[in-house]
Amino acid sequence: MNTDYDITEQFIILRTSCTHDEEAEEFMGVLKQYMGEEKRNEKMFTNQVNEDLYLRMYTVDDAEALYHLIDESRDYLKEWLAWVDYNTDVEASRDFIQGTLNGVVETGGYPKTLAIIYKNELAGTVGFNEVNRTHQYATIGYWLSEKFQRKGIVTEACRGIIDLGFKVMRLNRIEIRVASGNKKSRAIPERLGFKEEGVLRQVELVNGQFYDHVVYCMLKDEWSGKKDKQVD
Ligand SMILES: CC(C)(COP(=O)(O)OP(=O)(O)OC[C@H]1O[C@@H](n2cnc3c(N)ncnc32)[C@H](O)[C@@H]1OP(=O)(O)O)[C@@H](O)C(=O)NCCC(=O)NCCS
Repeated sequence: MNTDYDITEQFIILRTSCTHDEEAEEFMGVLKQYMGEEKRNEKMFTNQVNEDLYLRMYTVDDAEALYHLIDESRDYLKEWLAWVDYNTDVEASRDFIQGTLNGVVETGGYPKTLAIIYKNELAGTVGFNEVNRTHQYATIGYWLSEKFQRKGIVTEACRGIIDLGFKVMRLNRIEIRVASGNKKSRAIPERLGFKEEGVLRQVELVNGQFYDHVVYCMLKDEWSGKKDKQVD
């Protein structure tokens, strides 16, 4: 993994001097140009996780590919994700992508939602569902198209975004909340060494059914300790 250098270099550029919301708003104007017709530069917001895998901000050009990716995995994804039924056409995907810009303000100048690109193909999404800047914590969410499963893609994408959260966004705590019955998703924080902290009862309504969430957590010190011990 070569995340340290890439994340710092790429996302510090994005962060620039956005220490206040007004500055972040101003910076969003620049981002809108990037997301729209002009100033496209994919490399500017790229985090190369490994040889085959990188994360980058979505652009409006991705709307069609994103819609088709969701559509071809619709039945698979909707078992656990409530929003899938609302993604009814390319326009809905475009709206989602435009909405990801707001995340830049919410985080204080960082990308909140990132496209997962595997072997140059859009494979899914990883991002911060919630960012609390006052208490310096965030929750991570993810999904992957069915055809890209079982390659370790999301586990590695999470490593990338966790590094971003702790090293660049200065978070202290990162949570992953997973429906208790979603074994494949629970395996991800468990594989990454998150601690299981407890259960939120009936906190999510999907397909007319309330699901309990298991809360997994990683603290900044635990993550850096893990990295120190890691032998490449
Ligand atoms: C949850 C979800 C992202 C998991 O996908 P996944 O492919 O199992 O996860 P990863 O990309 O991390 O891959 C892990 C799998 O790849 C395998 N793998 C292969 N190479 C690997 C590597 N280098 N590192 C880690 N795992 C590897 C693992 O053994 C595991 O397979 P297994 O389940 O047969 O043991 C996916 O099922 C999904 O999108 N589900 C629907 C939406 C959803 O539930 N989102 C989460 C809501 S909380």
